[in-house]
Amino acid sequence: MSEWKKVCNVSEIPFLGARVVQTAEGDVAVFRSNGDEVFALHDKCPHKGGPLSQGIVAGKTVTCPLHGWKIGLDTGDAEAPDEGHASCLQTKIDAAGIVWLSLAERPAC
Ligand code: FES
Repeated sequence: MSEWKKVCNVSEIPFLGARVVQTAEGDVAVFRSNGDEVFALHDKCPHKGGPLSQGIVAGKTVTCPLHGWKIGLDTGDAEAPDEGHASCLQTKIDAAGIVWLSLAERPAC
């Protein structure tokens, strides 16, 4: 399966925050960085499952609201010294500014 799910206009995602999209694989957090780049991670911190969508984005990381782990938005990896990984999904923004989320079987990272 390699279908794309329409999310919303990029301007509807909170700046330096996220919007949650429900998928068959669980909730996905779609983040907006300060450069209006968009990233998607499963909305589950690799530490203890905290909601990454409620974290604060800085650069290309999000800080988990529960215990402060920093997760790379483009890698899904926890920043050292912490260890863990959240699956990433591919995103794209079309010419009209609409954000799309890939529901491909294989995660982007
Ligand atoms: S659950 Fe995210 S840092 Fe602990």
